[in-house]
Formats: sequence, structure tokens, C-alpha cells
Amino acid sequence: MEIRILPLPEEKKKQKFTDESQLSFGRLFTDRMFIAEWKAGQGWVDARIQPYGPFSLDPACLVLHYAQEIFEGLKAYKWEDGSIALFRPEINARRFNHSADRLCMPEVPEELFLQGIEELVRLEQEWIPTSPGTSLYIRPTMIAVEPVLGVKPSDHFYFYVILSPVGAYYAGGFNPVKIMVEDKYVRAVKGGTGEAKTGGNYASSLKAGLEAKKKGFDQVLWLDGLERRYIEEVGAMNMFFAYGNTVVTAPLDGSILNGVTRGSVISLADQLGFTVEERKISIDTIMADIGSGAITEAFGSGTAAVITPVGALCYKETTATIGGGGVGALTQKLYDTLTGIQTGHLPDTFGWVKKL
Ligand code: COI
Repeated sequence: MEIRILPLPEEKKKQKFTDESQLSFGRLFTDRMFIAEWKAGQGWVDARIQPYGPFSLDPACLVLHYAQEIFEGLKAYKWEDGSIALFRPEINARRFNHSADRLCMPEVPEELFLQGIEELVRLEQEWIPTSPGTSLYIRPTMIAVEPVLGVKPSDHFYFYVILSPVGAYYAGGFNPVKIMVEDKYVRAVKGGTGEAKTGGNYASSLKAGLEAKKKGFDQVLWLDGLERRYIEEVGAMNMFFAYGNTVVTAPLDGSILNGVTRGSVISLADQLGFTVEERKISIDTIMADIGSGAITEAFGSGTAAVITPVGALCYKETTATIGGGGVGALTQKLYDTLTGIQTGHLPDTFGWVKKL
């Protein structure tokens, strides 16, 4: 599809960051954005790259009332030789369309999804930070813009992509976070939207997150919605527990997100000689196994969170410290290997990197 490139007036150019160590997550956006529109009876039309800026939305439009919205997250890296690499963007394209199907939104052809991202990143490449732990975060999003109050799928959508130079997702950087196991609220149930990357899942997680923060925790670990017994995910991350040479994570059973980093971690751990088990595991077992020392490490995985060590888990009134509360050897190895592949410092034996 042809993408029109609209001019970027001098006065719309933003001040670039000067100190990459000050980059936080998702507060700064580049000069341009990509957008294409889908209209019933026409399909995808008017793909363009335009100056970054606000939309003018009708107050009645469907996304504002019934949350017909999906998004993705992926990253671009600038390698030492100046080339640009995306990490597994086609997996994000497929997951985006999986979410689109669940939310009754039109499929974005994989080619359009990738072409929009690639052209935008190419134009905005001066915004890609290069310090360790930094990257250009890419946020493809689709929203329903038909102005109507009846509950129905929209007949008009915006698919757009914005870019944000980022540092670590958690303010503490690559340091252990403390997680509270949520036993009052639930995130998702099988058959719901837990497997889709849709804003509503995140809006409904805010209350639990705030309550956990008040108690001194960084995020919550969700339990299954039915029995509140089996571990699921931490909103921004999938969770892994290491038992020596075995790594356990919750299975993809319809209520958790099929994380791109989760899949990469499973492949890397396997390649490193670890046994990976995707299976249901109860929180009682997890707490007992942390207590006995059988669980040696815990970490979360996500595009934004990369690999984040988990130093403590609190369930009901008990807080258990994992592996002495520090960064475990496997967690460190996975972080180093994954980021090494993403930044071109290690060979990409899986063919995950897409160079622009
Ligand atoms: C990502 O990791 O890309 C996400 O979308 C998680 C988000 C909560 C920051």
C-alpha cells in the first residue's frame, strides 16, 4: 500500500533528549506518527505518516464509550554499525490480528502493519537511543472512531503507530521488583479478553495495582479467575519460576497474554539447556517452594519489562524473599542473551531480528 509522507514543519520538530540516562518509559514521543483508516465498504485507506499530534475525536465515538481498542508493543534498536533492528515484528502483527478478531475489529494486513512501522522508524531513526537498556518503543494501536452510542462494532477505525524513546519500564532499572499476589480482584477468565491486548484489561487492573503500591509493591500477580489458585501473569509481564535447572511458567490457556518475550525466553532457556515446563501451578505450591528454597529464582518477561527479576512475592500476609532477593544467575543470563541478540552483540541463531 502506498504511504503518503506529509511534511514535518520546522515548528513541529521537538527537542531531542540529550541525556539518555534520564529516559523513563513512554513519556516522550517522536516527531511523526503513522496512521491508516479502515472504513466499512472501503477497507484500509489513506495510509500516511504525519506530524505527531492529537486526534480530533467525536465525543460519541465508540472507543470512548465501549473501549473497542487494541494495541501492541515492540522495540527498535540501533546497532553499533548504525543499522536498525526490529525484534520479531511479525509476531506482534499476528498477535495484533488475534486481538482484532476478539474485539470485532478489522484485520490489519501483516504487510501494512510492518510497512507502516518500518517506514516510520526509518524516518524517525535519529530518535533511537543507543545506551545500554534503552530502545525505541513502538506502539501500534487501533481505535473505533464511529460516533454512535449503540453497542456494536464500529464502521470506522484508525490504525496508528507512535514511537517513544525509552529506558527501563520499572524506575529501579534491572533490579528485583516486589510483587503482591492479588486474591481479591481478578484480571480475566477463560472466554474473556485476557488473551487479547486490549486497553480494558489494563484499566481493570489499575485498582489492584494502586492497592499493591500503597503496600509497597511494584505490581500484582494475577491468579486464575475461577479458583483464585493458579498463577497467571503480572499485567505488564508473564512470570517464570526457576527450580534449579527447570523453569516453570503458566500455560497459554486463553486468559493470559501470549507474550513475545515469553516465547523468546522459552526458546532461549531451552537452548541454554534448561527444561521448560508450561503448566498450571498453584500459589500455595509457589509459596511453599520459595520457603523451602526449591524455587531458586523468579522473573517476569515482557517487551517493556524485558526480563525483570522478582525479589519478593507477598501472598495474603506472608512475604517470601526469592533467591536472597537479588538477581539470579539464570535471570541475568537470559537478560544478557536476549538484549545481546536485540542489540547485535550476540548472534541471532533463531532468526528473530529484522533489519531495516
Ligand atoms: C509491553 O510490554 O509492550 C506492554 O504492552 C506492556 C505495557 C503494560 C507497557
